[in-house]
Amino acid sequence: MFPTSMQDYASFAAVAVVSAVAIIGCVYRLYLSPLSRYPGPKLAAVSYLWQTYMRYHGLLPTKLEQQVKETGPIVRMGPNHLCFWDADAYRDIYVTQKFPKQEGFYSSFQIPYGSDNLFSAVHHTAYLNRKRKLMPLMSRQAVLSLQGLFQQQLGIFVSRIRPLADGHQSVNLFMAFRCLTMDVITLFSFGEAVGALQTPDFHANVATSYDDYLRGTHLNVHYPWLASILLRMPTWVQPNWLRGYLSMVNIGKESLERFQAGGGKQRDYPVLFSQHVEFRTGLTDDELVSDASLFVGAGGDTSGVTLSIGAFYITRTPGAQERLFAELQAAYPDMKDILTANVQDLEKLPFLSACIYESLRIAVPVSADLPRVVTGGDWHFKGYVIPNGTTVSSNAVAVHFNEQIFPEAHEFKPERWLDAEGRFSNKLEQWLVSFGKGPRSCLGQSMAMVELYLFMAAFFRLFKVDTVSRLEDIKLQEHFVTSPIGHDCSARLECRAE
Ligand SMILES: *[C@@H]1O[C@H](CO)[C@@H](O)[C@H](O)[C@H]1NC(C)=O
Repeated sequence: MFPTSMQDYASFAAVAVVSAVAIIGCVYRLYLSPLSRYPGPKLAAVSYLWQTYMRYHGLLPTKLEQQVKETGPIVRMGPNHLCFWDADAYRDIYVTQKFPKQEGFYSSFQIPYGSDNLFSAVHHTAYLNRKRKLMPLMSRQAVLSLQGLFQQQLGIFVSRIRPLADGHQSVNLFMAFRCLTMDVITLFSFGEAVGALQTPDFHANVATSYDDYLRGTHLNVHYPWLASILLRMPTWVQPNWLRGYLSMVNIGKESLERFQAGGGKQRDYPVLFSQHVEFRTGLTDDELVSDASLFVGAGGDTSGVTLSIGAFYITRTPGAQERLFAELQAAYPDMKDILTANVQDLEKLPFLSACIYESLRIAVPVSADLPRVVTGGDWHFKGYVIPNGTTVSSNAVAVHFNEQIFPEAHEFKPERWLDAEGRFSNKLEQWLVSFGKGPRSCLGQSMAMVELYLFMAAFFRLFKVDTVSRLEDIKLQEHFVTSPIGHDCSARLECRAE
């Protein structure tokens, strides 16, 4: 049909111009852009839809790894985004070059949106200011002084698990451990536990809300207007990821209200909220909530997945559980002493240490690509010239499954962390990037390590574990944080007699 009136001519011209611009844009991105020489899915070269779709379905690392197998270690995963599946690149991007964070990505981790937190703060001075105030709370010394708090939650966890073990019921360790770590982290940020461990079946609202929320983060990175529109809609049209987000905001806000109603007074231990009060950080209430919500996810989810996936591998690796139990039994002949064990004593147990480090490696608690921006001119890497302004990233999967660094990388081998005399050796630690590396590495590392030691030791001292889930059930799924596919990692437990 040909245009007949002036009006028709105008709309015809408009459509033609828009289509031409879109086509030229695609042609440019595919064939003329300086990044067009790098292989990758065609859709990824023209649009961020590819990343968004893969991330929404948790498939990003899997797809990238497939692509790397076919076309080599540099993949164009977005029109202006290169992923480096390479351990040296990981080090360059995050440690040597210290490229700044890419703004849009990190701001989607604000809960509520628009309120900066420690993770989303892109500008270095803003970040450093905030970090300095929180450091006293997160230092190893501070965390060690809180062991009593961790042990108290551990006691609740054990009392929940024991009847299930006695009844020969299978336990979803992924959910159960996350309830434990979420209660610990909320105690630590809000000054009170959210009571996840009291939830029947361990399907705690805080954990499921966070899962739902994480699914949407990538949508929000590239299409932030979507959330703005949906937030104005009635609840029933809102997708799960947005409801998860709203539920996280509520949990944070209600906790802050309760904290303030209590006069914001110091507990007998310092918490995130009181730290901000004490240091008069001048943060708004929403920014406080944003920091606290970040802690809940970063501290609760990651440790929970490491404990459950770690326990899964320890259990199904021939000889590992027996060796770990023997070591723990020799150190704690009276089993109830494990509930009050001191982490500094536990750290002296080499096989326990090896199992924990290997769990951190194989579980890859944070498996996302963490985008940075090339600044200060082009980046020269192994003969490639990456243009100034390009978004670049690598991820922990690429490093932890590098066969040169970790031979038989898909096998759980605690022995790789032991020397010839059977002592724990940290020579591979430089390549353990579970907490990131460089200036923006995880502030909660000390806390996570204390949790892993206390909880892993108690679990294997008190229970004999038999996995129910199979290897294909726990396949890695990435929604920034890693989870087993189907969120199920189940085992049958038996209480140890002595
Ligand atoms: C790199 O890009 C940034 C902004 O994208 C610009 O400010 C800076 O001047 C560029 N540096 C060089 C050396 O071209």
